[in-house]
Amino acid sequence: MKILEKIKLIIVKLSIPVFKNRLLTYSLFRIRFLPLQEGDHYYDLTTIVLIRVLKKHLNPGNTVLDMGTGAFAVVGLSLWKQIGCQVIHADVDESLLKKAQANIDYNHANTQAIQSDFFSNIENKFDYIAFNPPYVPIEEGENINLPDSNRIQWDGGVTGTSVIEGFLEEFKAIKSPAKVFMGVNRWHIPEKKISALAKQKNIMITSIHKPFILPANIYILENISDVQPKD
Ligand SMILES: C[S@@+](CC[C@H](N)C(=O)[O-])C[C@H]1O[C@@H](n2cnc3c(N)ncnc32)[C@H](O)[C@@H]1O
Repeated sequence: MKILEKIKLIIVKLSIPVFKNRLLTYSLFRIRFLPLQEGDHYYDLTTIVLIRVLKKHLNPGNTVLDMGTGAFAVVGLSLWKQIGCQVIHADVDESLLKKAQANIDYNHANTQAIQSDFFSNIENKFDYIAFNPPYVPIEEGENINLPDSNRIQWDGGVTGTSVIEGFLEEFKAIKSPAKVFMGVNRWHIPEKKISALAKQKNIMITSIHKPFILPANIYILENISDVQPKD
């Protein structure tokens, strides 16, 4: 195993108890969390940075699609609770969505959860879309012992970008005017790879937030397919 992978393995091992600590999670996100079930975790590093950046941009009443909401609907619920946004949560995985709905009910939130493969069952229009996609390349995930049981939450295919590519293609196809905030850990997918993909799909990266300590980049993306040049 290469030295960098050894370091990542140590960091993953050290992080797991943190991502599973209910009290710490509450103090970070200010929403209530149901107890964990086998194989679950509450959040990851990208979740923290994604919510932090979104909180700086969003206002009460903004409409948000929490794409890939996961088992605790953490991104959307935090924005509903802390900003007062109107939120719809979506996830492709039925069992994760059931758990997310339970956590939404536990928080008495008036947000809605919909099972959807990207935008397939989504009819509403949004100001913002938040997405922390699975982006770990398969071999890398297996080398650092990411669990097989929740592969849907981390597995980004051979190169790590298969879910991101699918998402960008669909975002372009629906011609949504929403701003997308997409979080990607730069240890797994470097910035130049995301920039190349966005360019290839004709999607504009309007800014990139790069925190100094945590390795998650937040890309703000906009659909430029139909933008008419000004005279
Ligand atoms: C890394 S987890 C993010 C969970 C949570 N939002 C967070 O930030 O902690 C990625 C999520 O994307 C979901 N996902 C993967 N492919 C999807 C698709 N095609 N459509 C919608 N959700 C998808 C997975 O089921 C998983 O819940």
